[in-house]
Amino acid sequence: MRTLVIGNGAREHALAYSLSLDPSVTEVHVAPGNPGIGGVATLHPGIRGEDAAAVVALARELTPDLVVIGPEIPLVAGVADALRAEGFAVFGPSGSAARIEGSKAFAKGIMASAGVKTAHAEAVGPGASDEEIRAAIDRFGPTWVVKDDGLAGGKGVVVTPDRTAAVQHVHDVHAAGNPVLLESFLDGPEVSLFCLVDGETVVPLLPAQDHKRVRDNDEGPNTGGMGAYTPLPWLPTDGVQRIVDEVCVPVAKQMVKEGCPFSGLLYAGLAWGSDGPAVVEFNCRFGDPETQAVLDLLKTPIGGVLAAVANGTLADLPPLEWEDGYAVTVVLAAGGYPEAPVTGVPIEGAAAGDGGRGVRAAGVAEDPAREGGLVSAGGRVLNVIGRGATLEEARAKAYAELETIDLPGGHYRSDIGLAAVEGRIAIPE
Ligand code: GLY
Repeated sequence: MRTLVIGNGAREHALAYSLSLDPSVTEVHVAPGNPGIGGVATLHPGIRGEDAAAVVALARELTPDLVVIGPEIPLVAGVADALRAEGFAVFGPSGSAARIEGSKAFAKGIMASAGVKTAHAEAVGPGASDEEIRAAIDRFGPTWVVKDDGLAGGKGVVVTPDRTAAVQHVHDVHAAGNPVLLESFLDGPEVSLFCLVDGETVVPLLPAQDHKRVRDNDEGPNTGGMGAYTPLPWLPTDGVQRIVDEVCVPVAKQMVKEGCPFSGLLYAGLAWGSDGPAVVEFNCRFGDPETQAVLDLLKTPIGGVLAAVANGTLADLPPLEWEDGYAVTVVLAAGGYPEAPVTGVPIEGAAAGDGGRGVRAAGVAEDPAREGGLVSAGGRVLNVIGRGATLEEARAKAYAELETIDLPGGHYRSDIGLAAVEGRIAIPE
């Protein structure tokens, strides 16, 4: 099977790496990719994922048996539709189905019709006056949840007990021309559950937990994600099944009913409260950085799994097999991230094409001064992955891998998965 992955981050590196291990996969191409992915795939730099014409032209040239679209922006822009119109098998939802991430209002409507538990929400458009904004803020909180209702890659959310900060974020999002969604705060630990969805067929992957705040102990601003671990030792034993039955299947069925069936990866971001799961948000693609950990434990070769979704035969796929134990991924971020990442800094200990190690590259570029060398080129520079029989061991391996890499000025969280190891994650009574 010849495969083409669209995207350029650590998630796409993880997908490409897993595809490269699948004996049925003969070629892995990534567009545009990044130089850190070069060891496991042929890169096609210069192709922007959201440029449907360029992606289709590349697909015509490569004639892949499977195209996997990683990020949400091309999905929301309808790149999967453009490829399907040309007869390509695509892993990723149509533009219409990708609204589950692209439009919070659409997602809320689907959940309301499907009877799925989620936060109460109110939209505040960019035309609202300061008085209207303050009145809306006072109908919520504390704690306030203020979301950018555009595509913000997980970075557009402010969760704060500070009313002034909440009002300010509304103004900031409006200044960027986007509407805001105010939401009631959902209490309880967060869960990311990724489900393969093919119409009404839903197959869950392992549950994971992301760490969104930039600093240890969940301090500092939200980021795109600073690390993740999987599975979740504190989740009730029927936790995954409950999320599938109470959230993902009803949503998948509702989308079929509304004429926009979902095909691809439905990412349910949830809070596990006293009554069980409630939806914080949906995404229409694999999550980053959880995917890097989750795919590290997937034993079933991934090419056949993704192709089954793309070809509409997920219901016939045998149950997925998983490695025992745990996986942890830790993000090494550039100095200044998330506010103003410093780029162009040489990275020691990770080189272009290091595909086989527990490193997944994201914001990196070739170092013009060192052949094969890399420099930082984005906020989240790379991920390291550790796997172990226990979560403690997986953490130790990930941090040991991180010790072998040096990014001057870079930073990472030292507590990924630690609260779970120490039994400090409690489900509210
Ligand atoms: N893990 C956050 C995201 O993928 O949006």
